[in-house]
Amino acid sequence: MNDIIASSTKFYTSCQDGAAGMMALPPKSVKLIYGSPPYPNADRNYGVWKSKDYLEHMKPFLAGARHVLQDDGFIVINVKANRDKATTKHSSKRSLIVEKLAILMEEEFELSCVDIEIWVKGNPVPTGLRCACQDAYEQNLWFSVAPKWKINLDAIRRPYESHSLETYQGYEYKPRTNGLSYVRKQKVIEPNPLGALPLNVITGGVSSKKGIHQAVQPVYLPEKYIKATTQESDIVLDPWMGSGTTGIAALSLGRRFIGFDIFQEYVDVATRSFNQLL
Ligand SMILES: C[S@@+](CC[C@H](N)C(=O)[O-])C[C@H]1O[C@@H](n2cnc3c(N)ncnc32)[C@H](O)[C@@H]1O
Repeated sequence: MNDIIASSTKFYTSCQDGAAGMMALPPKSVKLIYGSPPYPNADRNYGVWKSKDYLEHMKPFLAGARHVLQDDGFIVINVKANRDKATTKHSSKRSLIVEKLAILMEEEFELSCVDIEIWVKGNPVPTGLRCACQDAYEQNLWFSVAPKWKINLDAIRRPYESHSLETYQGYEYKPRTNGLSYVRKQKVIEPNPLGALPLNVITGGVSSKKGIHQAVQPVYLPEKYIKATTQESDIVLDPWMGSGTTGIAALSLGRRFIGFDIFQEYVDVATRSFNQLL
């Protein structure tokens, strides 16, 4: 296992529990953990992690993350709070377990919240809900090991909206002395050639990839965080690798990748994709 850290090996995959896999790696060797764990209450072939047990399932993974992340490392957990089942006495309640997970990450694992970003799904799966509005988003819990972090916003800038380009033509923005914000002045300045500052909302379709895995992610999700927090050759790790979306994003961007899953068939599919890509 130590070989992948020391050598120029591009990727390492293994069929095992992701928390144990992280613990077996050398400490402080990974720059970014990005992954999507089994969602609370979702009934999948890998079992159901119920809301009431969810934090206990997640604790070993957070301990593994704290062990393996560099001091300037990050973790991003993509997750959606599925609803508790309706009963004769209760409507189908929206579980608050994702919010509790975020609090656990801050309070027990001493991680600092960069943001809780929202992925708005352009083509959400209809749920037929009658006790609340249709589910159309997921949360990306983005945390840093260091309380004072550095991220590369330039790498994830987006095209300007036409109306903001028009506004730019009429104003100058001057940095405040605190270095954190801008004062608007009546002079023209050029927009940033790299684009507008990124938003904490990601909008896009769910993956149309059908195949061996039930919950394949679109590659643009891990891509955003890999670009913002890592550089070439840094190690990205996904402890719930599935079909290997995080690895595909990482390797395509010239990063190295470590992935774990408890199903050998997923590990095989992911490994095949990585070999084809390289
Ligand atoms: C939501 S899916 C991840 C899908 C993945 N992001 C993709 O795009 O294919 C969660 C994955 O976690 C895996 N898993 C469940 N328990 C695990 C454990 N203890 N250790 C590692 N992987 C686990 C499941 O087999 C499943 O592939």
